[in-house]
Amino acid sequence: MAIESSCDDTSVAVIHHRKILSNIVATQEIHRQFGGVVPELASRAHQKNIIPTVDAALKKANISLSDLDAIAFTQGPGLMGSLLVGVSFAKGLALALGIPLIAVNHMKGHVLAHFIDNQDRQGKVLKFPFLCLTVSGGHTQIVHVKSPQTMENIGITIDDAAGEAFDKIAKIMGLPYPGGPEIDRLAKGGDPLKYQFTKPKVEGYNFSFSGLKTGVLYFLRKEIQKDPDFISKNLPDLCASIQHTIITILLDKFEAVAKEYGITQLAIAGGVSANSELRTRLVDLGKNNNWDIFIPKFEYTTDNAAMIAITAYFDYENKVFVGQDVVPNARLKT
Ligand code: KG4
Ligand code: ZN
Repeated sequence: MAIESSCDDTSVAVIHHRKILSNIVATQEIHRQFGGVVPELASRAHQKNIIPTVDAALKKANISLSDLDAIAFTQGPGLMGSLLVGVSFAKGLALALGIPLIAVNHMKGHVLAHFIDNQDRQGKVLKFPFLCLTVSGGHTQIVHVKSPQTMENIGITIDDAAGEAFDKIAKIMGLPYPGGPEIDRLAKGGDPLKYQFTKPKVEGYNFSFSGLKTGVLYFLRKEIQKDPDFISKNLPDLCASIQHTIITILLDKFEAVAKEYGITQLAIAGGVSANSELRTRLVDLGKNNNWDIFIPKFEYTTDNAAMIAITAYFDYENKVFVGQDVVPNARLKT
């Protein structure tokens, strides 16, 4: 059984070999009214949700606690208060049941979600090594995935993450949190080339998104002075243009890395991998370059415990366990 509590979703999954028997996600609605995650409220909600979520996951998997062979949990990266709830609960349960504990890196979990159920949906099976663009609310990474245990970051963001850029720009436009899915939805009727925003100039394969956020803010301020209803009148075009800019920044670098490294298997992961433009443009890029593209199932893109369970499964096979002295690490590196 795996527990994920790094941010604002309490999730519990049960895995049997590579098959997910249950994957329950309790989303914390409380943060919506604040336009972002409030850490203290998140940890309190995790405390409230964890037992019912464990119960629901066991029930759905049709097993009881005594059937479990190991307990896995997200050690980091994430919010310290949130992580503490999952880590403490997992430690207590493992101790009570006398079974091993497995500590999982959340970012590795996003990447390894591709191995759930031996996914082979595009008629292909993903093999090591491959490249993964991991794009979430907290991270933006191009990862060289050499094995379940060995992953190397080729590029990372030097400021905001891609999901954070979606969320912050959405907030500027008065859209609800999380802004990524809202922008994606509203962009559908819009013209992606209507507004041009300056793309960052960052050396090598690193990313930067905070300049884009400021650029959008100044542009909107100027336009609102001329017409106070500018945003509402042009919302689809604005969303489509902003989304197009973010996805172009991501894909330009991902393509360049694939060409330099000569790797022909490309995967995406993390909450932003749910984005429809990212998905379609990456598939087109694959067709043009003869690359195999791997896109996770929708339910395994945003935070979930199934991805923690599959990562733990690899460790379980290799008997990589941790002791009761394990602690959460808010800044755990890949
Ligand atoms: O992986 P995730 O659930 O949590 C973190 O570990 O951060 O990612 C959440 C992020 C949020 O920033 C959200 O706006 C973004 O993923 N997101 C999207 C979409 N769905 C979720 N961004 C763009 N388009 C989407 N369809
Ligand atoms: Zn995540």
